[in-house]
Amino acid sequence: MSKTKAQNKSLQLAKEHKKDEFYTQLSDIERELKYYKHHFKDKVVYCNCDDPRVSNFFHYFSYNFEKLGLKKLITTCYKNQNMDLFSQNDSEQAIYLEYTGDKNGNNVPDPNEIGIKYLKGDGDFRSKESIELLKQADIVVTNPPFSLFREYVSQLIEYDKKFVIVGHQNAIKYKEIFPLIRDNKIWLGYGFKGGAGHFINEHYEDYATATDRKEGMIRVSGVHWFTNLEINKRHEDLILYKKYTPEEYPKFENYDAINVDVTKDIPVDYDGMIGVPITFMDKYNPDQFEIIGVGIANLGLEIGIQPYKPEHKKYRKEIQKRGAVDGDLYMMIDGVVTVPYSRIIIKRKKK
Ligand SMILES: C[S@@+](CC[C@H](N)C(=O)[O-])C[C@H]1O[C@@H](n2cnc3c(N)ncnc32)[C@H](O)[C@@H]1O
Repeated sequence: MSKTKAQNKSLQLAKEHKKDEFYTQLSDIERELKYYKHHFKDKVVYCNCDDPRVSNFFHYFSYNFEKLGLKKLITTCYKNQNMDLFSQNDSEQAIYLEYTGDKNGNNVPDPNEIGIKYLKGDGDFRSKESIELLKQADIVVTNPPFSLFREYVSQLIEYDKKFVIVGHQNAIKYKEIFPLIRDNKIWLGYGFKGGAGHFINEHYEDYATATDRKEGMIRVSGVHWFTNLEINKRHEDLILYKKYTPEEYPKFENYDAINVDVTKDIPVDYDGMIGVPITFMDKYNPDQFEIIGVGIANLGLEIGIQPYKPEHKKYRKEIQKRGAVDGDLYMMIDGVVTVPYSRIIIKRKKK
């Protein structure tokens, strides 16, 4: 690799990892976790991507330890090895900390009540030491690094842990995550106000619009909470009112399903397959709808979405100058190849 290429690559990596240094606000944590309070009684909670000096997850659980009736709180702090790339994490050594509640009756986690211990390694959530701590945990709650979300969730599933974590809604369509969503092993929580989170970040230039800008914060749209803890929200029916007409709901050219652009417009009287935007997942009730698949690339081919017809593929590439990936859903509207943004295929459940 040439020197500039290598430099570019490390700059890109630095940028990617800087994106991981967003700290969750206490108010957002409180707003979500109020719906899960009953799950925490007598449980060991583990925050495994959290520097206790800055993590509001640690703050929330240590200050609410008694109220929630927790058994133990474990927190590990990641110490990056490469200080050039990850200069935000500046602890001397990775630490972990165990808190078993207030001892002196002041209902506040005093420093002498918090047992700080040093880790041998860097506190990576995938390290042996962290996995040993994970094994002790009942519920994992944190905002993990966005760039490692796939691996992060896979590990939680492998160790059969309950969790409430922050992630981007685009993760729904990752090939590692989607099957878990489809099979009702994980689902979306209540979510951030207005579908966007403001995270504490001092190292990043914010690009939020003026009205939504908050000093020292970065606005990230499309963030959500992912969980496998039972919540009432996922048993509430989505109230629908529109009636099906073939004009308003065209069928895909390569799959027997209708297209719906906005979740609230799902026709109330259509019993076949329906392609909906991924934001539908926020309203998904497994008693009302069944998830069949997602109309993207190989995941689409798996559920029988037909590859592009040769003339449509040619049109897409040559006239529209766009990528034509087999397995993606498309429609023919007035003779024009029309590819909607990612669609999840659902079907109404018979009651
Ligand atoms: C999005 S930030 C959120 C921090 C904190 N959980 C919060 O919500 O305020 C993700 C954190 O994960 C840490 N991290 C990055 N890679 C990690 C790894 N491999 N293992 C554990 N933590 C990691 C980052 O240093 C960063 O502090």
